[in-house]
Amino acid sequence: MKLAQGILFTEAQIQKRVGELAKQIERDYAGEPIVLCAILKGSIPFLADLMRKIHGDVRIALIEMKSQIDGKHASILFTSSLDLSGRHVIIVEDIVDTGITMDYLLKHLEAERAPASLKVASLLDKPEARHLEVPLHYRGFVVPDKFVVGYGLDYNEQYRNLPYITWVEPE
Ligand code: IMP
Repeated sequence: MKLAQGILFTEAQIQKRVGELAKQIERDYAGEPIVLCAILKGSIPFLADLMRKIHGDVRIALIEMKSQIDGKHASILFTSSLDLSGRHVIIVEDIVDTGITMDYLLKHLEAERAPASLKVASLLDKPEARHLEVPLHYRGFVVPDKFVVGYGLDYNEQYRNLPYITWVEPE
């Protein structure tokens, strides 16, 4: 696979949209403390930008997930040390594709971490690939059914450092 020539979302478009999501979150939580729970590694740039655009009491937690190769299961590899119980938690994700990872994480956090509330912020949504319906409370952009990379998203660990979002295609 090689990097496509085109760009889906420029750095400026991403920054503008992340700013809009931050405003929406600020309005919805009206000064209540929140925890942004980011899914590693793809959501690192999104988390870093989003957290700096939200004013108020914002804490962070990190979770690393493994999406199984059969595409049907997900599991947790790593969780940082922040107590989520009784807190307003927003899961921060790079992309919701099949929905399997998010479905698993929502059920797991509800059952094991007892948050006061649980919402989802995903920079990208690829609805054509969805197998499981999951709630998306804050959504940056809808993308076509391509393998997108950049701004945290990788293809075999490559391209996460691109400041814009593009896609890969066959050589
Ligand atoms: P799911 O299919 O919704 O469970 O997505 C699982 C994970 O696969 C996402 O969190 C991403 O890290 C990764 N992923 C899904 N689609 C893409 C893509 O188009 N580009 C890069 N990573 C992706």
